[in-house]
Amino acid sequence: MSTSPEFHDRMLSLGLARVSEAAAIAAAALIGRGDEKAADQAAVNAMREQLNRLDIAGTVVIGEGERDEAPMLYIGEEVGSGEGPAVDIALDPLEGTTLTAKDMPNAMTVIAMAPRGTLLHAPDVYMDKLAIGPGYAPGVVSLDMAPAERVHALAAARGCDARDITVCILERPRHEAMIAEIRATGAAIRLITDGDVAGVIHCAEAEKTGIDMYMGSGGAPEGVLAASALKCMGGQMWGRLIFRNTEERTRASRAGIEDFDRIYARDDMVTADVIFAATGVTDGSILAGIRREPGFLNCETILMRSRTGSLRRMSYRHPLGQRTG
Ligand code: FBP
Repeated sequence: MSTSPEFHDRMLSLGLARVSEAAAIAAAALIGRGDEKAADQAAVNAMREQLNRLDIAGTVVIGEGERDEAPMLYIGEEVGSGEGPAVDIALDPLEGTTLTAKDMPNAMTVIAMAPRGTLLHAPDVYMDKLAIGPGYAPGVVSLDMAPAERVHALAAARGCDARDITVCILERPRHEAMIAEIRATGAAIRLITDGDVAGVIHCAEAEKTGIDMYMGSGGAPEGVLAASALKCMGGQMWGRLIFRNTEERTRASRAGIEDFDRIYARDDMVTADVIFAATGVTDGSILAGIRREPGFLNCETILMRSRTGSLRRMSYRHPLGQRTG
């Protein structure tokens, strides 16, 4: 029986940062050009090329879509040299394609890596999400509570008034009732137009971002990426898949989901130690976006490991074209 080499998260982490940086650098030329597809494609190509340089036997479990709908980085695609530990990869080469195309805040590239079989194979359906930062008792809020109840529970746990709580929510018609209910508590709401991975991460740095809680539905794949980030930074998160039709249930069954009503806690989505990297494409509250200077592009990356809880902020200066001296 062949055994896979150990998942050496410390050794692999810098390689993961390079993958994330490469995607952001590639997307830079498409910032503000109104072409979401081209921006995404550039990031996908670069991410794949860099991933294939890593000494891993990687399988994409959260990717660009299913094999028949995505030419690259599709779910099930094998990446890496094949020489190295067997790992699961969750990625979003460009989280916020619209944000990039419109040059709006918080677009970033995102990737997480964990030992094989330890990341939830979330199908491309919606997920109802709830997240809070570190320092609270387990289960202080839950997906089974009504939105207003969550606000009051979090305020009680923090020893503050509901008015002192800020909730981050994707601005969508489907969230109108939830937004109204939360407003009635007196809590503030930070509406975002896209990018709920960043939305969730905000909770882990509440003093800096001013956001205490994330709630609402968004992509299930983004849910697993956000859970990976929170596992490194601390914080609680829950997700429940939402199925709108039979086709989506079939998709979930294909991904191995058996209990359609299950609430997944953070550590159910990410069951072992994970490494996570994200690079800013446009400026955001977590990461600076790409900066240009003559002959170079600069970017900022966060690189985190759940085993140690370490978080690095790295800046990278990328030379454009051939060096002459
Ligand atoms: P893309 O970058 O793939 O377009 O995703 C952006 C995003 O805002 C995610 O962060 C979020 O999970 C999802 O779209 C929400 O989906 P919808 O736009 O259908 O509400």
